Amino acid sequence: MTSTPELAGRAGRPTATPAGPLHRPSELTPTIDVSGLVDADGGLLDRAIFTDHQIYQQELRRVFAPSWLFLAHTDQFRRPGDFFTTYMGEDPVIVTMDKSRAVRAYLNSCRHRGARVCRADAGTTRNFTCTYHGWAYDLEGRLVSVPNREGYPDRFDTADWGLVEVPRVENHRGLIFGTWNPRAPSLREALGGMAWYMDAMLDHDGAGTEVVGGVHKWVLEGNWKLSAEQFATDWYHVNMSHASALMLLAPAGKSPRDEIVHRAGRQYVDPNGHGAGFPVHPKNRFDALAVHQWFDYEAARARLGDARVEGPMTNGHATVFPNFSYLPVNGSVRVWHPKGPDRMEVWAWTLVDRSMPDEVKEAQRLYNLRTFGPSGVFEADDGENWSEVQAISRGFVTNSVPLNYQMGLGSEREDGRYPGKTSELYSDAAGRAFYRRWQSLMNTPAWYEVDR
Ligand code: FES
Ligand code: FE
Repeated sequence: MTSTPELAGRAGRPTATPAGPLHRPSELTPTIDVSGLVDADGGLLDRAIFTDHQIYQQELRRVFAPSWLFLAHTDQFRRPGDFFTTYMGEDPVIVTMDKSRAVRAYLNSCRHRGARVCRADAGTTRNFTCTYHGWAYDLEGRLVSVPNREGYPDRFDTADWGLVEVPRVENHRGLIFGTWNPRAPSLREALGGMAWYMDAMLDHDGAGTEVVGGVHKWVLEGNWKLSAEQFATDWYHVNMSHASALMLLAPAGKSPRDEIVHRAGRQYVDPNGHGAGFPVHPKNRFDALAVHQWFDYEAARARLGDARVEGPMTNGHATVFPNFSYLPVNGSVRVWHPKGPDRMEVWAWTLVDRSMPDEVKEAQRLYNLRTFGPSGVFEADDGENWSEVQAISRGFVTNSVPLNYQMGLGSEREDGRYPGKTSELYSDAAGRAFYRRWQSLMNTPAWYEVDR
């Protein structure tokens, strides 16, 4: 890990800190107590959490900075120098494979005047050269070239001016996450019971997953929580919002009502704010026919168990708190990047089983594009809802009227079939857990606030 000096001038010679030159945010910005904005027990939500700029800034400090955030898939890094640029909250980061083949992540901001040192979306390189004045950093984040080096004083030591490194980068079955929080629990601990549900998508046969078709990116005029909470908790919208898409995709000769729209199902409610909803229907995997026919369900049952094959593997959607969501049948994984309180960027990958023949991978890719690509028939419905809710929340009176998250109040229970607590398929339980976690983080000083 590269060392990181304090801001120059504060303490003479820079002192290394593990997590970056963070100022104490409360010195600059008052902290808002959000206790009155989320009533998770009563199922009420204040719309200010979707629109208020100070709340948004506090989210970046206390929700995004301390949490594990999705960065990329291991398949994107096959040889040293492969890189991918993304964001953690609004902080730009470079994810790259170093010379020892370790995947590392750095703040994508030059230590000189702060420009991004990598402006490409992805590629392969030997170093990252800033286009402003030419400082260059190697794959290990070290500052290796400074034009007009002799112009700096003797005490200028390039070892003090390496890229700020994300201190923790770990992966779960190919999904790479990072956190700025040096004292965060391990990724596996943070996922907790959610990993069982994620593995219904990631661990069909032990060969793992890979990325097809690059990364799709689009902008939505909505707060990032609207989409994250929906993927955690909201199956209730499916029949109404997606009625036309369901009719379009119903298997020939079968009505959507009979084959697709199910109230039978469960919703996983995680204490760390994750959530997963899935209808239970043992016979119909509602996806591309080529994938359906290729898939070895009996082998999957032996590996994953009936409960997973008949539920979270064959349908559903889910969110890993705060802003990573996925659709197991589509193989769509996505990040809801926050871009202000009323805007997000959706970045979406399509994952396929590594063991699939090429034509089945292609069928999976096309199926995902038709349904949950940037103009997919389901994706368009969802985006319209989020933009609608966001747009009218700007109204003063509208913003003062609370929202209802009361479906399934008190329904969470352990039933022995699924790990952890689950609720009904149509329920707001995972949404309440999502906002309970959000509220807790918003009201808790982050590590950099208590360590200094
Ligand atoms: Fe990067 Fe000056 S800002 S070299
Ligand atoms: Fe939807």
